[in-house]
Amino acid sequence: MGENTFGTRFKITSFGESHGKVIGVILDGVPAGLKISLDDIQKELDMRKPGQSHLTTSRSEFDKATIQSGTFNGITTGAPICLIIKNTDIDSSNYEEIKNILRPSQIDYSALKRYGGFADYRGSGRFSGRITAGFVMAGAIAKQILKKYDIIIFAYTKSIGTITDDIKDVKVNEETVEKREKSLVRALTPEKSKMMEDLIEKVKNDKDSIGGTIKCIVKNLPEGIGSPIFNSLEASISKAIFSIPAVKGIEFGAGFKAGSMKGSEHNDPWIIKDGKIITTKNDSGGIIGGISIGMPIEFTVVVKPTATIGKIQKTVNYKTMKETKIEITGRHDPCIVPRAIVVIEAMTAIVLVDHLLIQAKIPSVL
Ligand SMILES: Cc1cc2nc3c(=O)[nH]c(=O)nc-3n(C[C@H](O)[C@H](O)[C@H](O)COP(=O)(O)O)c2cc1C
Repeated sequence: MGENTFGTRFKITSFGESHGKVIGVILDGVPAGLKISLDDIQKELDMRKPGQSHLTTSRSEFDKATIQSGTFNGITTGAPICLIIKNTDIDSSNYEEIKNILRPSQIDYSALKRYGGFADYRGSGRFSGRITAGFVMAGAIAKQILKKYDIIIFAYTKSIGTITDDIKDVKVNEETVEKREKSLVRALTPEKSKMMEDLIEKVKNDKDSIGGTIKCIVKNLPEGIGSPIFNSLEASISKAIFSIPAVKGIEFGAGFKAGSMKGSEHNDPWIIKDGKIITTKNDSGGIIGGISIGMPIEFTVVVKPTATIGKIQKTVNYKTMKETKIEITGRHDPCIVPRAIVVIEAMTAIVLVDHLLIQAKIPSVL
């Protein structure tokens, strides 16, 4: 499997399979002199881990991060940093039973056609949502760098099914983070959160799953960041976000709504406030021409309903070439959204550090 490295100056290489020995990430290009807090990395991982509530999968992987290289006395040396998590609580038995039967909207057919049947199918192998634990560890380090420049990334659940918690002008501060972490689905309004929880509970009881959207906001990114044409900020963020399994779409600012707006509605008027050029609204999502304008970066990500559901579904056995039915047992999230929030933040942080390094806004020694 090629193409497991992402980034230009701040590079991450993802490795490991869902049911293999370890899952991990190698970071190259991390400036020297950064004090790494393993606690901060662990805190982020705990937001992604399974088994956080009755609404997430009951798999109880204890995702404990360890640093294998690249730091000395807890400070980065400039050498590649390798982070791993040992895989525990592995149960591959369900995958043995159904290995010749294509799970609808899962990776079985694509992996078969791409890797000739040699890809590790246990727990979806390299395609598993589990690989994002590596993204989160790398993202935690990227966030520690961004913190030095007061650049903050915050994502929350905007919708689950048709229940929407779309909040205008979200204040990105510790209080808002606390509010989000009080919600089992990581929404911001308690009543909406309860409705979302009930919906997830209902689809879970129906052996089904549900999709949703995540809104991500970046505050304090300076203007002038992004390298068009092919490394525009929108292009880089989109590529990073689409590397997260189950993501099916992204829109910046007004996004797809722009297709039904007039220019006079969509255009963000420029004004001067406290000597600074800003816009009065942010339908551009903080990026114009692939370059940041100093307004918050705002985008929304669509996460599909979990493909692996318990309901009986029509499918095909590719060995016998016969149509058949599949009833999948095992432990899966009825909704991926609450666990994907921290992954969205992580990939965004990785992109931003990469761009800041490309433009020499971050020195190679901190
Ligand atoms: C944090 C996280 C957890 C996931 N858990 C599951 C899961 O339990 N069951 C499942 O079918 N898919 C899960 N997925 C999504 C699949 O990995 C993904 O749908 C699959 O690899 C196919 O890729 P695609 O949906 O991007 O096309 C998860 C994704 C993420 C980000």
